[in-house]
Amino acid sequence: MKTLIINGSPRKNGNTSDLVKLLVENLGGESVEVSAYHNKITPCLDCRACNKTKGCAIKDDMQKLYDDIYDNVVVASPLYDEDLPGPMISIKNRFNYVYANKRFAKIKNERKKARGAIILVGGGDGKPGHAIENAKTILKRMNSKVLDEHIIKYLNTDELPALEDEQTVQRVKDLAHALQCI
Ligand SMILES: Cc1cc2nc3c(=O)[nH]c(=O)nc-3n(C[C@H](O)[C@H](O)[C@H](O)COP(=O)(O)O)c2cc1C
Repeated sequence: MKTLIINGSPRKNGNTSDLVKLLVENLGGESVEVSAYHNKITPCLDCRACNKTKGCAIKDDMQKLYDDIYDNVVVASPLYDEDLPGPMISIKNRFNYVYANKRFAKIKNERKKARGAIILVGGGDGKPGHAIENAKTILKRMNSKVLDEHIIKYLNTDELPALEDEQTVQRVKDLAHALQCI
C-alpha cells in the first residue's frame, strides 16, 4: 500500500506535520510526503499547452504529484485566511490540466483511482469551508475519492496543540486504520 501526503504547512514541526507523522506511524506500507512549501512548484502560468497536449508543460517538483502509483492521497494543511495557503492553491491550479485536457483536448484522466483524505488544522477562527472545497478539488483531480468520515478538522491550535487533543489523535489513528482496510 502506497500513500501520498501533500503537506501544506511551511512549519516542519507544526501541527500539520505532527499529525502527518502520527498518520505515517500508524499506516502500513510506504508513505511519501510532498511539501507544498519546500519544493519548487511554480504557479499555473495559463500557457494553455494543456488545452492541446496531455499533462502540464511546466517541469518542476509537481512531477512528484503526478506519479500514478498511490492507493491513498492525503491533503494535510493549515487554514490560512479561511482557505488553503497560497502554495496549496498553486497545486490546485496546476492540476487544472486535468480539466483542460478533458474539455479542450478530449484527453481523459487515466490516473489510477485512490482513496482520499483531508487533515485540516486551524488556530481557532473556524470557517474551513473554502479550504475543504479546495482540498476536495485537488483530490478529485488526482482521481481520489474522499469520504466525509475521512475529513479531520482540528481548529483550536491557538489553545492546544493538535497532538494534545485526544479526540484528534484518535481520529488520525482511525483514519490510518481506515486507509488500510477499505
Ligand atoms: C497567514 C495566516 C492565516 C491564518 N488564518 C487562519 C484562519 O483563517 N483560521 C484559523 O482558524 N486559523 C488561521 N491561521 C492559524 C493557523 O491555521 C494555525 O496556527 C495552524 O495551527 C498552523 O498550522 P501549522 O502548525 O501546521 O503550521 C492562520 C495563520 C496564518 C499564518
